[in-house]
Amino acid sequence: MKPKIYVTRKLPDVIISYLSNECEVRMWDKEDEPVPPEILAEEIEEVDGLLCLLTETIDERLLGKGRNLKVVSNMAVGYNNIDIQAAKSKGVQVTNTPGVLTETTADLTFGLLIATARRFEESINYVKEGKWKTWSPMGLTGQDIFGATLGIIGMGDIGEAVASRAKGFKMNVLYHNRKRKIAAEETLGAAYRELDDLLTESDFVVVLTPYTPQTHDLISYKELALMKPTSILINTSRGGIVNEEALYQALLEKKIYAAGLDVFEQEPVSLTHPLLQLPNVTALPHIGSASVTTRMKMAKLAAFNLLEALQHRTPPNLVVTV
Ligand code: GLV
Repeated sequence: MKPKIYVTRKLPDVIISYLSNECEVRMWDKEDEPVPPEILAEEIEEVDGLLCLLTETIDERLLGKGRNLKVVSNMAVGYNNIDIQAAKSKGVQVTNTPGVLTETTADLTFGLLIATARRFEESINYVKEGKWKTWSPMGLTGQDIFGATLGIIGMGDIGEAVASRAKGFKMNVLYHNRKRKIAAEETLGAAYRELDDLLTESDFVVVLTPYTPQTHDLISYKELALMKPTSILINTSRGGIVNEEALYQALLEKKIYAAGLDVFEQEPVSLTHPLLQLPNVTALPHIGSASVTTRMKMAKLAAFNLLEALQHRTPPNLVVTV
């Protein structure tokens, strides 16, 4: 008998056919709407495996309903949406999709950095809203990127990929990480700093650390106040790492110059969120890995991880081993 799986969002047909060869597949058949938690709670009761997205909260209660559940395969590199301890104690393997999204996410991070520094959103609106009357000496001026100091918080694969892009812009690269990365220091010329020193010295601070209880509110008012008034904060990791009230306050008080955010504490972010009311906030809808090629690779890898676990082989991207 084929194992039963549930897929929490409509994935491309080629991925579903690949899974269907080996499994009995049920799927939430909508692309732009997450599965309601009560439906997921019913579906999980019967299945051996779950392929989910970062939009699903896989907590202890939900895991407890999965009588036959053996594996949760997350189609994302981050897995803060899954209660890892609960999975471990229930003997459920958890996998993620690292590697395949590194360069795409680094591209987006660097793009957001440039867009925020050079005020793309305001400038685009300026043209489209018919405000462009003349070339103006100081109009829509922003901050330089070339030769500036970049501070990367979280020097994992994506951090290193951002640092390698920064080299092309002759940036001075600093980083903060739980562990020093001597290889990155040698190959990328990145210099290690304690967090406070990185915040004080950088023109751009890029948040790329994973979201864990230890990194919740890692960047709050005290940290933002250490930054230069001309500096820019970029977050392409998870919203909860930057305290949003503190960020709003710091922007209002001009403690920092601008922020570029691809992630928010609550997603989708509410239209009335104070940060969205500020002209110097460039906001994106969590699209770090959103290229056609990369999303296909992530879907394939998530499917592969799931099948490997169900077929009693070791999935390549285990974050919880049981
Ligand atoms: C996206 O944010 C991911 O974790 O893959």
